[in-house]
Amino acid sequence: MSIRYIEKIKQFVLETRSTSYQMKIDELGYLHHLYYGPKAGRRDLSYQYRTYDHGFSGNPYDMRHDRAFSLDSTPQEYTSFGVGDFRVTSIRASCSDGSRCAEFRYESHEIHDGKYAIPGLPSVYEGDDSAQTLIVTLLDTAANIRVRLYYGVLDELDVITRTAEIINAGSEIVWLRKACSVCLELPFGKWDMIHFHGRHCMERQAERVPLFHGIHTLSSGRGMSSHQHNPFVILCDHTATEDSGICYGMMLMYSGNHKTEIELDQFDSVRAVMGVSDDRFRWELSPGTSFHAPEVILTCADGLTQLSHRYHRVIRYNVCRGKYQLSERPVLVNNWEATYFDLNENKLVEMAGIAAELGIELFVMDDGWFKNRKDDNAGLGDWIPDSEKLPNGLDGLIAKVNDLGLKFGLWIEPEMVNEDSDLYRAHPDWALTAPNRLPMMSRNQLALDLSREEVHEYLYTVISGLLNKYHIEYIKWDFNRSLSDVYSHSTPSARQGEVTHRYYLSLYRLYERLTSAFPDVLFEGCAGGGGRFDAGMLYYNPQIWCSDNTDAIARLFIQYGTSFGYPVSAVGAHVSAVPNHQTGRVTPLSTRGTVAMSGTFGYELDLTKLSGDELAEIKEQIVRFKELQPLIQNGQYYRLSNSADHSHYVAWQFVSPDKYRSLLNIVVTNPLANSAPIHIRLKGLDSEAVYSVNGEFECDGAALMNAGYTFEQLTGDYPSRQLDIIRIR
Ligand code: GLA
Repeated sequence: MSIRYIEKIKQFVLETRSTSYQMKIDELGYLHHLYYGPKAGRRDLSYQYRTYDHGFSGNPYDMRHDRAFSLDSTPQEYTSFGVGDFRVTSIRASCSDGSRCAEFRYESHEIHDGKYAIPGLPSVYEGDDSAQTLIVTLLDTAANIRVRLYYGVLDELDVITRTAEIINAGSEIVWLRKACSVCLELPFGKWDMIHFHGRHCMERQAERVPLFHGIHTLSSGRGMSSHQHNPFVILCDHTATEDSGICYGMMLMYSGNHKTEIELDQFDSVRAVMGVSDDRFRWELSPGTSFHAPEVILTCADGLTQLSHRYHRVIRYNVCRGKYQLSERPVLVNNWEATYFDLNENKLVEMAGIAAELGIELFVMDDGWFKNRKDDNAGLGDWIPDSEKLPNGLDGLIAKVNDLGLKFGLWIEPEMVNEDSDLYRAHPDWALTAPNRLPMMSRNQLALDLSREEVHEYLYTVISGLLNKYHIEYIKWDFNRSLSDVYSHSTPSARQGEVTHRYYLSLYRLYERLTSAFPDVLFEGCAGGGGRFDAGMLYYNPQIWCSDNTDAIARLFIQYGTSFGYPVSAVGAHVSAVPNHQTGRVTPLSTRGTVAMSGTFGYELDLTKLSGDELAEIKEQIVRFKELQPLIQNGQYYRLSNSADHSHYVAWQFVSPDKYRSLLNIVVTNPLANSAPIHIRLKGLDSEAVYSVNGEFECDGAALMNAGYTFEQLTGDYPSRQLDIIRIR
């Protein structure tokens, strides 16, 4: 049993393999958070909390004689609002009488076997592991708001999921202004925050900073989880390293606007709340209805590596789904950086012919294939193949690609529309635009209002039409602008604050319908590269194009940051041409191969322009990748360098689950003259076993992990090495 309720002391104990979580209903019915962390026995941990009389932290009326009791200094599972807890809140609402307060007290609870699901939203599923669900219901009787807190306990995975359902239990409308998924309290300790910020072409840059007093906000109001702030944060002990130290992860399974607020308060206590962003959010809760917040995946681990391994596992086995969830993904070639919009059948078939000879398995036709799409000014919305570029139709091209022995994949950007399109001319009100205002344009396009049912149906018809008509085995689903001017022309003015979340409910439903109807199609997510790289998207797309920056050196840092929360099997990564199209940098093909192999692997360059030597090297790379693919996709991932400390190289390693095989990768990012040797201690091997190192010498696992390995001097333009470590005894 992972969840127990001890009636006598009104305490809940949640246990996973190596963590405990405790909360308690106090004498007034507040749900106190007691503990989340490494196993701490099963006894009541409330002995840790001593209440002090704090000036200006007031007392609930029925505790008014105990000046030491204040919600302002009590760790809670979900906060009240407007009643004297002045820290960041989990929830805010206004009632029809104008009041803006609620104080939640315990009403009931349920414990179920299995993992709950959230209506309309992606969530972790149970898979082969056993899970239990706890639902604690809290109620405010004056505002008539009921909060149901859901806890999913995945024992083997060492993961606890959380979400909240807010219910209007009264007879008047309640306006929900904020509804977080989780409140996590860390009452004691000194914490650093690691977050993943960035920009287009430089997503998920890991930054570690000590918490300072005040509120740290990580958010996106861009209508997408965003290039700028990934909805994932780690709070780790100030002394934590890759290998040890308490680390908490909070990952929001959501692709729209999000916000995480982390407050280090006056008493040095930390509260973190995470959920849908409350900026521009206002949800009408009519009597009897409820709002479901998206899921947060929590873990508490010893060291950053263990934390990452937990997320990699839960995402691979309990978030991603479908035929390609665990199977090896096809090596692909994508024509975007080869042709941009200037594509035609002859050119593509020529590329596909070479691709087939090289051992590439999937040919992807990117943007530019549909009517009027000469550049990014026109065409989005009308998904009709361009008969000039494709004189034999899309089926003609697909037949030729398939005849060469390759699968065929197609790029689409369904959520967008150009003003210059038949769709926009027929339905200008289907775009998100504010009344009496010219909209902000981005890449010359507008976003469709997916909160409208007609738009949802149109997109289902268009995409299912393409998938029914043509032999398409892969879809790259793009999204190339932020949502601004968010206003739905079919929604009443008072409910405009619901539009962005409704957009995402509709998008998830669309994905659910399509992935169920076309289970054999591999979907790859994309949003100007990795602008929607989140667990919500991974529920529908087992892989996501990680960044539009294909420069191998820049990618090292993008993939490094991505690796904290997301598995390699989710990371779309391609070898592209040099000089690189984003940075102008020239790197060796071998280095580009090494970096792209730590992802789903493919090529994105004009194969017709390569020399014989380059083609021969690519052929070898593909053979090597196919041989390494099970290790790379199923192995444990270890970061062996810290981007903040190691200025001249990046190193990482894969170890197969049975520890028989390992691959150490290193790329020199800044070759140094007369430098100290690069020395690395490997990780995750069997210390008792003997391994062959690149077929050159034999070495004990313990030696490789403790004494380490020293590289020869690596100079020149961004050199890289891959070391094959294979167990021989
Ligand atoms: C986005 C994607 C690219 C490419 C272009 C096409 O930027 O991230 O990979 O598909 O759109 O317009």
